[in-house]
Amino acid sequence: MVAAKIAPSMLSSDFANLASEAERMMSYGADWLHMDIMDGHFVPNLTLGPPIIESLRKHTKAYLDCHLMVTNPLDYVDPLGKAGASGFTFHIEVSKDNWRELVDNIKSKGMRPGVALKPGTPIEEVFPLVEDEHPVEMVLVMTVEPGFGGQKFMPSMMDKVRVLRKKYPTLDIEVDGGLGPSTIDEAASAGANCIVAGSSVFGAPEPAQVISLLRNSVER
Ligand code: DX5
Ligand code: ZN
Repeated sequence: MVAAKIAPSMLSSDFANLASEAERMMSYGADWLHMDIMDGHFVPNLTLGPPIIESLRKHTKAYLDCHLMVTNPLDYVDPLGKAGASGFTFHIEVSKDNWRELVDNIKSKGMRPGVALKPGTPIEEVFPLVEDEHPVEMVLVMTVEPGFGGQKFMPSMMDKVRVLRKKYPTLDIEVDGGLGPSTIDEAASAGANCIVAGSSVFGAPEPAQVISLLRNSVER
């Protein structure tokens, strides 16, 4: 079994108190903090970028799992590396021509490369990135259209997760969008081990309980 990584999505946090929100999530048992970086172009929303990652890094040692919903991910590699990002996950839809350069750059800045795909993108498109001699270390299967928190989980995406898990038994497979107590079992049994959860964690009266429920489902 691949280790569970529970990653609260800070998109659902109080951005005005990001440092204390991060500390709160880590104290509740989170493994990673999921940071949604959007440029208002790849997706119709604008969130945070390297300066905020840099500020947050001064307050936490947590693994910052950055999800780049931007049109030009290569432009962000150097700034995010300097800012102290841990993981750098780019979208395949905008990286078909330069993913090798991206992966090598991400690694050279000391970050862990991952590739994400939108619901409409076939899973086959990421196989070459996992099988390359300089492979990505995580595949993020989007289970909603990227851009906003609080959307409904798309169960049909579990076919992608199953295909990936069968082909790559030790790969980190992340799911993002609509994950919570009512959808985790489906995602975990398909083979996902890295779980992003925004509204279900931040909106819960006891977020620590939700985090542990998510973990138990993956580790079962
Ligand atoms: C959506 C983001 C997600 C989002 C998930 O584009 O990538 O990380 O914050 O939020 P929930 O868990 O509320 O669907
Ligand atoms: Zn995300």
